[in-house]
Amino acid sequence: MKPDADNRDLQTPERFRILLKEHGMDLPVEANAESLRLSARTDRKTIPNRICIQPLEGYDSLDDGSPSDLVYRRYRRFAHSGAGIVWFESAAVAEDGKSNPHQMMLSSDHISGFHALLAEMDRICLEEYGYTHYKVLQLTHSGRVSRGSEWNRRPVAARRRASDPDGLIPASDERIFRLIDEMVEHAVMAWKAGFDAVDIKACHGYFLSELLGAYERNGEFGGALENRMRALLCMIDRIRKRTDGELGLAVRLNAYDSAPYPDGRGLKREGDRLSPDLSETVEICRMLRDRGVGIIDISASQPRQPLFLDAADETTKPYVGAFDLICAVREIRKQVPGVLFVCSGLSQFRQFGPAVGAGGIRDGWFDLAGFGRQALAYPGFVQIALAGECLDPDRCCVLCGSCFRLMDPGLSAAGCVVRDPDPYAVLYRENVAGRRN
Ligand SMILES: Cc1cc2nc3c(=O)[nH]c(=O)nc-3n(C[C@H](O)[C@H](O)[C@H](O)COP(=O)(O)O)c2cc1C
Ligand code: SF4
Repeated sequence: MKPDADNRDLQTPERFRILLKEHGMDLPVEANAESLRLSARTDRKTIPNRICIQPLEGYDSLDDGSPSDLVYRRYRRFAHSGAGIVWFESAAVAEDGKSNPHQMMLSSDHISGFHALLAEMDRICLEEYGYTHYKVLQLTHSGRVSRGSEWNRRPVAARRRASDPDGLIPASDERIFRLIDEMVEHAVMAWKAGFDAVDIKACHGYFLSELLGAYERNGEFGGALENRMRALLCMIDRIRKRTDGELGLAVRLNAYDSAPYPDGRGLKREGDRLSPDLSETVEICRMLRDRGVGIIDISASQPRQPLFLDAADETTKPYVGAFDLICAVREIRKQVPGVLFVCSGLSQFRQFGPAVGAGGIRDGWFDLAGFGRQALAYPGFVQIALAGECLDPDRCCVLCGSCFRLMDPGLSAAGCVVRDPDPYAVLYRENVAGRRN
């Protein structure tokens, strides 16, 4: 079978499943959307269906971190989608932890701005579908990729790496104790604003993610796993206490980083190949579950990059990184019952993403199907997927990466350049294409 580049002539999820299997990727792919329509329970609240819009930062909040018109526009589009979970983008918990000057950030002065946005989303979703989304806010410190108000680099590293310049001094234990306070304060504000849960972000190499791999750090937060987990667990305990257990707790976690020990976590080297070693990730998930975390969203530092399985040919190349990651979620979930797992990377499967989501949930690989770029490109895909109908390939994300290029520091607000051209193609022409010429 030799389909064309965007798999248009595959036509059905079943033919797509066969293609993947022929290339060593035996994924459950299910045309019947019944499993996507199931509700789920967490923290005494209902998630109305199994589609999760992943956090998608727009670099477009107002200077004080509150929602701008573009932020409202993005979340209204997500509200109209009717997704079971809308996982809000990364919001900084400290000025020195912003990855860009327009990062979302709560403050006691503008909780009402977030409250109004959430209320509007609830109204839209309730009117159109008779339910409300489960809304999670991702809280973060950007660590070594933090930037100041002039886009100047201002790294706050959790540990040293071999490639670091001599002048880079990791954050002190005192700074981490302060970060715990900041995280708790911001979680309390998120609760007051009306979020159902907060995600204490521990993925993609940001501060808490890097701290989880701080094998060679001394002091209270480095070395043994219980030390590397100390900050995260302390945040969880204190947030639970301050919000009377009413605010749900979630963590977005890397199954594996993009570099092996000692520069990263979750990978082992076999000859000249890297492969996943999920034993510590499983242990981390168990510790999170035992502390009351209800949802774990599994990602990786490079979900789009094939780290393990080689791409057999150009046709299957887009799928290998996402396949590896989904297999990792399956393995982790098998060993950690009692928590809801979200998978990442389903936009890679384009029009067949919902069928991979439905198959994965049906077969117990994960509990919620997470979509990032597809939601920027085609938020209406959610209702089509829930109805068990095929997505229109001409409206799907084409995996071009232009949204990522819009995020390069200092460039512009991010969104889908291809399927949502006004304003994002205009911004791309001005800020990315214009710069190359
Ligand atoms: C424009 C853009 C912004 C993103 N912002 C965030 C973010 O704020 N937090 C986060 O954890 N991941 C972020 N991601 C990663 C996505 O949540 C998701 O993991 C990634 O796009 C892979 O999933 P997909 O194949 O469904 O797009 C972002 C991705 C894009 C394209
Ligand atoms: S810009 Fe490209 S990669 Fe990003 S959402 Fe749009 S089509 Fe997908």
